[in-house]
Amino acid sequence: MDLSVGTPVDPVPASVRQALADASDAPGYPLTAGTPRLRAAIAGWLARACGASGELGVLPTIGSKELVAWLPTLLGVGPGDVVVIPSVCYPTYEVGAKLAGAEVIRADSLTAIGPDPRVKLIWINSPSNPTGKVLPRDHLRKVVDWGRERGVVVVSDECYLSLGWESDPVSVLSDEVTGGDYTGVLAVHSLSKRSNLAGYRAGFVGGDPALIRELLAVRKHAGMIVPAPVQAAMVAALDDEAHVTEQRARYAARRDILRTALTKAGFEISHSEAGLYLWSTRDEDCWATVDALARRGILAAPGAFYGPAAAKHVRIALTATDERVAAAAGRLADW
Ligand SMILES: Cc1ncc(COP(=O)(O)O)c(C=O)c1O
Repeated sequence: MDLSVGTPVDPVPASVRQALADASDAPGYPLTAGTPRLRAAIAGWLARACGASGELGVLPTIGSKELVAWLPTLLGVGPGDVVVIPSVCYPTYEVGAKLAGAEVIRADSLTAIGPDPRVKLIWINSPSNPTGKVLPRDHLRKVVDWGRERGVVVVSDECYLSLGWESDPVSVLSDEVTGGDYTGVLAVHSLSKRSNLAGYRAGFVGGDPALIRELLAVRKHAGMIVPAPVQAAMVAALDDEAHVTEQRARYAARRDILRTALTKAGFEISHSEAGLYLWSTRDEDCWATVDALARRGILAAPGAFYGPAAAKHVRIALTATDERVAAAAGRLADW
């Protein structure tokens, strides 16, 4: 029972597959900026789902991982600069800083960063992978204000925004955070989890129009272009919320089963109020827990993958079929 990776297993919505098929006669080069229809769909979704009422810049990306990995480079961050990432986080933030030749600081609070003038970019991730923690509105506002005062770009990875369970995740683009002024702020989004489109590679970024223009100019010349049929599929996915509600219900049911089974087996669940994972611990080294789970046929991701501060946690993904989730719960019952 592989609960170690967050790869969707449920079907691609029929309307999205149809849109992809209908757009498959695509002999010409696609627009790096996205078709006018896609740009409007992204802007509309950011207004509705993120509460962003101002004039946003938007840009489709080939999934969000490539943007996370290349954003520091694309924005001209380089040797001698610092990129701040969460203390426990998705490993690609560090990869992106290293590809740019920049130094990484892991920090969750602004006071921990201090007055370092080398800081050029700060990543936040709410809901978090792997912890499922949600950053409150006031925290987001403080980070945005802090970034603006120092000319530091604030980038919020919001791939799991539509998966709040015990709290309502807030976007950094929400009017309550930015006041409609997106200067120095970007939000990264993905349709991989929301719409089961990980295989299509469909993401986008919205925020500061000047930063988006800069990204577009470089990405055009670097060939970072979303294929035309995928652009059409993204429009269909963004314009529909019914499939998102259905998918959420599947994950909610799996989450209940796994959470109950893990708790009964003596695990403590930390954070996990949103997102696709149960951040779990038996208060022992994560590799001992991974090993004990593996002996029961269950694969989990060791916390150590996500930062030195996570050495006692494992990440259990909700992205397995109902049958596999039930089987895992059965194995946990024999703990
Ligand atoms: C926090 C976070 N950001 C970005 C991604 C990349 O997602 P994708 O490239 O499928 O959009 C993931 C994937 O798991 C993730 O967990």
